Amino acid sequence: MTGLITGSRVRLRPAAASDAARFEEILSHPEVARWWADAEEPVAAQVSYLLDPDEGTTTYAVEHDDVVVGIELAFEEADPQYRHAGIDIAVHPDWQGRGLGSDAIRALAEHLFTVRGHHRLVIDPAADNSSAIRLYQSLGFRPVGTMRSYERGPDGSWHDGLLMDLLVDDLVPAAALSSS
Ligand SMILES: CC(C)(COP(=O)(O)OP(=O)(O)OC[C@H]1O[C@@H](n2cnc3c(N)ncnc32)[C@H](O)[C@@H]1OP(=O)(O)O)[C@@H](O)C(=O)NCCC(=O)NCCS
Repeated sequence: MTGLITGSRVRLRPAAASDAARFEEILSHPEVARWWADAEEPVAAQVSYLLDPDEGTTTYAVEHDDVVVGIELAFEEADPQYRHAGIDIAVHPDWQGRGLGSDAIRALAEHLFTVRGHHRLVIDPAADNSSAIRLYQSLGFRPVGTMRSYERGPDGSWHDGLLMDLLVDDLVPAAALSSS
């Protein structure tokens, strides 16, 4: 999966080595680290993975007005019987609350549905990440269920995750979303 993806207000560009410092800055911010950090994986290692992820995963730099405001990932299940894709995202707190995260998720979801031919997407916020869950629901994602002790947090303990899914007809049309 290569190439640019254009939303209404953001552009998703495949990540490059030159994004390393900015990605580290974004992931190190306490408001992002509280949801993304792993007690046993330094941020530098996270960034190395993002720049050279597993087969089937693509990392994008989320750009707004030529500034990298966030990081977004798409992973694609290769088994045809279970074909689906997943999304993850982090927006730098200086740029949150402006509609850029929802635009970035929507743009990647549209790409995965229309260009990559997926019929089902998933996203798995921490169960207590209420603002992310609210945002995903506004785009049409539905809660599937709680995955108990799903991910290790920055404090080293296991936290619940909420599995959410979005079928192709669930995606809320852009016109229905706030874009002020
Ligand atoms: C979750 C996250 C990606 C959302 O990104 P964002 O850019 O803030 O998202 P948006 O701006 O589109 O939406 C956030 C809120 O701003 C509101 N908003 C949208 N457009 C807006 C605008 N133009 N002006 C003001 N507010 C706006 C949304 O309605 C939403 O409000 P709500 O919290 O009351 O539901 C971001 O908060 C983040 O990176 N958090 C830390 C990492 C994280 O939790 N990642 C998710 C892991 S699954």
